[in-house]
Amino acid sequence: MEIKSTIFFLILALTCCPLQGALPSCSEVVNPLQPCFPYLKGRGGPTSVCCNGVGGLIGLAETKSGLELICKCLKDALEHASYDPNLIPTVTTKCGYGNIGLPPISQGTNCSGI
Ligand SMILES: *[C@@H]1O[C@H](CO)[C@@H](O)[C@H](O)[C@H]1NC(C)=O
Repeated sequence: MEIKSTIFFLILALTCCPLQGALPSCSEVVNPLQPCFPYLKGRGGPTSVCCNGVGGLIGLAETKSGLELICKCLKDALEHASYDPNLIPTVTTKCGYGNIGLPPISQGTNCSGI
């Protein structure tokens, strides 16, 4: 019985709403995406490490506030970088997650109401 309930709670923990509640910090959002930055700078396709990071944020991106947060955090993180904003919406598609609604984020992008 003990093993059964352990498995039950394990499944619950794995399936139920890992990102619900308080929004993560910008470092929690951006750190998994760091491996994608070379792609945003035009250095080849997104790596599997990059795509794993993207996959971890899909749940967050499903809410409006989560998507705005990702936008804002990426904008801040890329403030001093030279990159192609048009590549940002293509990362999720290239990683197989489809278009999640991220705009091409440049420093002029208003992340509110995207
Ligand atoms: C960004 O968009 C929101 C919603 O459309 C608007 O209220 C806000 O004034 C805009 N901010 C800037 C800096 O343009």
